[in-house]
Amino acid sequence: MPPLSIAVTVNAVLYRRDVEPRLLLSDFLRQELGLTGTHVGCEHGVCGACTVLLDGEAVRACLMLAVQADGHAVETVEGLGSMDDLHPLQAAFRQAHALQCGFCTPGILMTLVPFLQEHPNPDEAEIREALSGNLCRCTGYQNIVDAVKLACGTAPVPADR
Ligand code: FES
Ligand code: FES
Repeated sequence: MPPLSIAVTVNAVLYRRDVEPRLLLSDFLRQELGLTGTHVGCEHGVCGACTVLLDGEAVRACLMLAVQADGHAVETVEGLGSMDDLHPLQAAFRQAHALQCGFCTPGILMTLVPFLQEHPNPDEAEIREALSGNLCRCTGYQNIVDAVKLACGTAPVPADR
C-alpha cells in the first residue's frame, strides 16, 4: 500500500507525515519524530515501556499503528517536564530513588499520570494495581510505590541516601 498522510498532535505540536500503513505508533514517535523517550521493550503489549497518552488515556504505542493516531493528541514523556522543570511525579521519582536503569520509567510515568488524575489519593493496593501492567526489572517496585505516595503527599520526603 502507498504511504498515508496523517496529522498527529504530539506534546501540543502538530506533525504532518506520510507513513507506511503498517508503521507502529512507537516507531513513528521514535524514528519519525525522534522522541526516543518512549521505550520499546517487548513490542507485544506486555511490558508497558511504550506507554503514551492518546487523548489523555494511557495506551501501548507498540499495539497501535501510527495511522490510528491520525487526528488525535499524543503525549509522551518528553511532554511531561524538562530537566529544569520536572513534572511533580518525575521529581518524586528522583527523590524516592524510584529508578535504576530507567528503561521502564517513561512508561510507568505515562501510566501513572492519568491514574493519579482519577485517583488523587490512592492507597498502596491501588498503586500496585495501577503498576501491574508495567514491568520493571530493577527496582522491586517498592521505591516506585514510595514515589507515587510522595507525589500524592502521603509519604514523607526521604532523606538523601
Ligand atoms: S514495548 Fe509495548 S508493551 Fe512492551
Ligand atoms: S528501572 Fe530498570 S527496568 Fe525499571
